Amino acid sequence: MPTTQLPDTASLRPDFIWGVSTSSFQIEGATQEDGRGSSIWDIYCRAGEIKNHDTGDVACDHYHRYREDIGLMTALGVQAYRFSVAWPRVLPQGDGPINEAGLSFYHRLIDGLLAAGIEPWLCLYHWDLPQALEERGGWLNRESAVWFANYASLIAARFGDRVKRFATFNEPSMFSLFSRSLGKRDSSSEDKLHRMIHNVNLAHGRAVDVLRANVINASIGCIHNRQPCRPSSASKADAAAAARLDVYWNAAFPDPQCRGEYPPSMRAAIEPHMQPGDLTQICRPLDWFGLNHYSPVYVKARADSMLGYDFGDKPPGVPLTPIGWPIEPDAFRQTLLAVHRDYGLPIYVLENGYGDFDQPDGTAAVIDPGRIEFLKAYINAMNEAASSEVDVRGYFVWSLLDNFEWDSGYSIRFGLSHVDYASLRRTPKSSFAWYAGLIKAMQR
Ligand code: NOJ
Repeated sequence: MPTTQLPDTASLRPDFIWGVSTSSFQIEGATQEDGRGSSIWDIYCRAGEIKNHDTGDVACDHYHRYREDIGLMTALGVQAYRFSVAWPRVLPQGDGPINEAGLSFYHRLIDGLLAAGIEPWLCLYHWDLPQALEERGGWLNRESAVWFANYASLIAARFGDRVKRFATFNEPSMFSLFSRSLGKRDSSSEDKLHRMIHNVNLAHGRAVDVLRANVINASIGCIHNRQPCRPSSASKADAAAAARLDVYWNAAFPDPQCRGEYPPSMRAAIEPHMQPGDLTQICRPLDWFGLNHYSPVYVKARADSMLGYDFGDKPPGVPLTPIGWPIEPDAFRQTLLAVHRDYGLPIYVLENGYGDFDQPDGTAAVIDPGRIEFLKAYINAMNEAASSEVDVRGYFVWSLLDNFEWDSGYSIRFGLSHVDYASLRRTPKSSFAWYAGLIKAMQR
């Protein structure tokens, strides 16, 4: 790999961690196997809400092919792998009876990773809530904090001897803002949104306590997707809408979790859900800030919608990925500076990546120069942030594999490896070789 094609990494720490990330529902498949309960995403898929009527039933079949996937990670040379546990696989009803067969899958996965010298980073919640809990009110029920703490306690007891890195939630602002449980997205759903935000924050704090008490040397954080929210025009209304969304997108979770206070503009709306001691319960000491970052978000005002916003046009001339996301590496640099300034915790970038429609060419190779250029530019930006004293300690590409991209189903591909969903064959893309070359170069 010619070094000119590699990003500048001179300012990164010598012990910098390179990794890849995935999540349970997006890759595992086997949704009805070995006693797994249903998750809310199984229900959305069954209701035909996903593009092309895709479902998670097979996904990448990682449940059966995890050994091959660990082999891919070994070929990449990553030091760490971030995955999530499917809550309904280990607790089919969400709370109550334990499913040993489901736990056994994660035992095999974790042991396989450790044998390959790859550190497991376990995320407790990447959006696949047990449907049984949704039927009890889901995150709108304050009891959810207790359910989540019980689940965390099972995970700590079973895996805490071998797993030390834990994330409580992945992107709490996303699964709250876009939750189907809020119903109609107008101002009538705003009270539910505030209730959900507060319950998820409580669940986070309780889980941190459980992990801390039960796992020796645990290293704990939460993963936030901080993306600057920018007005899509020069109008005052758009500026106000962007500023309002920014609070919910970027501050509603990390502010109370890391600083013990909600952003001032949302305090009155949270107040009805607050009980004495809640903020102390939410704000527990954390070891790091998990950052997912892709691009800025452009926002316009829309009076009849929840929080008064909608997604607006991107500024003309901004380069876009094939799926239409702005490519603005400097926004990544600025975000890293902002997270450092606001929270002061060590930062691990736990997702960054490039969505495309990659397909094999005539020689069965998957050539993705756009992804390589993107990753290179973003890693350069991270290096620049590190040169301005930002304490960034790791970078994980989203994703190891093409996978189930939520409402877009399998139509969008983020993987370093292509997945042919008919044969389930994995084909490393050219970005895979590039990332492997970068990691190798870093270890010299
Ligand atoms: C954020 C989410 O954590 C992940 O599940 C999703 O696939 C990627 N970003 C890409 O949208």
